[in-house]
Amino acid sequence: MKHPIKIALLGSGTVGTGVVRVLKENAHEIEQKVGMPVEIKTVLVRDIHKKRPYLEGLQLTDDMDSILRDDDISIVIELMGGIHPAREYMLAAMQAGKHVVTANKDVVAQFGRDMFEMAEQRQVEFLFEASVGGGIPIVTPLKECLTANRITEVMGIVNGTTNYMLTKMTQGGSDYAAVLKEAQEKGYAEADPAADVGGLDAARKAAILASLAFNTRVGLENVSVEGITHITPEDIVYARELGYVIKLLAIARDLGGQGVDVRVHPSFLPVGHPLAAVSDVYNAIFIKGNAIGEAMFYGRGAGALPTASAVIADIVAVARGLVKGNAQGIGCTCFEKKPICPLEDTVSAYYIRLLVADQPGVLGAIATTFGEQDVSLNSVIQTRRVGSQAEIVVVTHQVQHKKILQAEQCLTQLPVVSKISNVIRVETAAEGKV
Ligand code: NAP
Ligand code: HSE
Repeated sequence: MKHPIKIALLGSGTVGTGVVRVLKENAHEIEQKVGMPVEIKTVLVRDIHKKRPYLEGLQLTDDMDSILRDDDISIVIELMGGIHPAREYMLAAMQAGKHVVTANKDVVAQFGRDMFEMAEQRQVEFLFEASVGGGIPIVTPLKECLTANRITEVMGIVNGTTNYMLTKMTQGGSDYAAVLKEAQEKGYAEADPAADVGGLDAARKAAILASLAFNTRVGLENVSVEGITHITPEDIVYARELGYVIKLLAIARDLGGQGVDVRVHPSFLPVGHPLAAVSDVYNAIFIKGNAIGEAMFYGRGAGALPTASAVIADIVAVARGLVKGNAQGIGCTCFEKKPICPLEDTVSAYYIRLLVADQPGVLGAIATTFGEQDVSLNSVIQTRRVGSQAEIVVVTHQVQHKKILQAEQCLTQLPVVSKISNVIRVETAAEGKV
């Protein structure tokens, strides 16, 4: 007689219900792989009286302490999201000797150190594969499969909601609010979608990826963040005309002695770039290592079942360890302390869209201003009139961020410039810090 491995599930929303469904549907295969059945014993809910047909047959509780006291439960799966009380519940579960699996990038990005310390102290597992890239395996590959490498770059599309929105806006010119609503209805967005569109969700994932890739702790506060809220249909059209697509990118580079550069922002990507073809809810993460060269991980970045796939992979890893009696995994790999490269020193090419007076000499004045700030121009186009004004689009060569900021300041002081409508980075092959 095999005794099942018993789990408690904290939270039964989009991902929680996905986990319930996949554990049930694939119970036989999971049992074969673990060597024992894996069963949900208890589900923590906020309102025990709320009707939840998808949890039929499962024991519900609104009392976390009852889970902590239950010696039958060896694995706690946290899928509530947010910092409080998720962080406290996970720490308490580990303190009680239970292994923890989570999809919560908020807690991992901000309080990863506390989590690892508790796991180490109590000799339990703390696994978080689903916190980055939804269904894509990326945390375990970085910790295990690519461990032989010195990784120099991680670049990816790591937010499904914004990739879905930008794809729809690019393909059909759909309205921003309408496509955000669609992404929410499909279960891709966070409880507060401001974290998706504002870039914070991707920044949390960038912090986690950079910490894993460069073996140094990169906190959320070390990531410079820009979302997609300022991207307009005009920018999308200009991108297409210039041979690019706009993607929200998470970029992390280890620049050696110059530090670690970690940022999230929309970028113009050449249409031929491997990440340019990643559309809808799909995510992809591109990695450069000194042994493997380049590798790319691709798959659904959000949604109930893809995310459940990643959560259950962690559950199976812990359960196998329990069956074999060697549950403790790799733990924290941040054994180095690398400096963070300041944003103003980072280098990129830029797209700048300006509204200017439609009169002779304007292009010359603008080009001179850029030149005075040491910003070299790659191309300048003027295609549209907006009322009585002309719209000009400038693409620069690679330049330090601080020089773009200075040029912007000088341009706004030119009487012929009425508005800088947008500034977006342009991704080219070689970037970094000069
Ligand atoms: P969700 O649909 O909002 O579900 C959260 C669930 O947690 C709800 O059922 C909610 O209960 C419950 N909950 C919240 N606070 C609770 C508390 N104090 N006690 C008990 N239950 C509580 O969120 P989700 O999309 O499933 O996301 C869950 C986690 O996975 C988040 O960390 C998210 O960032 C991460 N994640 C999500 C995706 C995705 O595609 N959605 C992908 C990767 C990672 P009520 O029913 O009472 O509201
Ligand atoms: N809201 C997140 C996204 C969920 O859209 O990518 C997956 O982490």
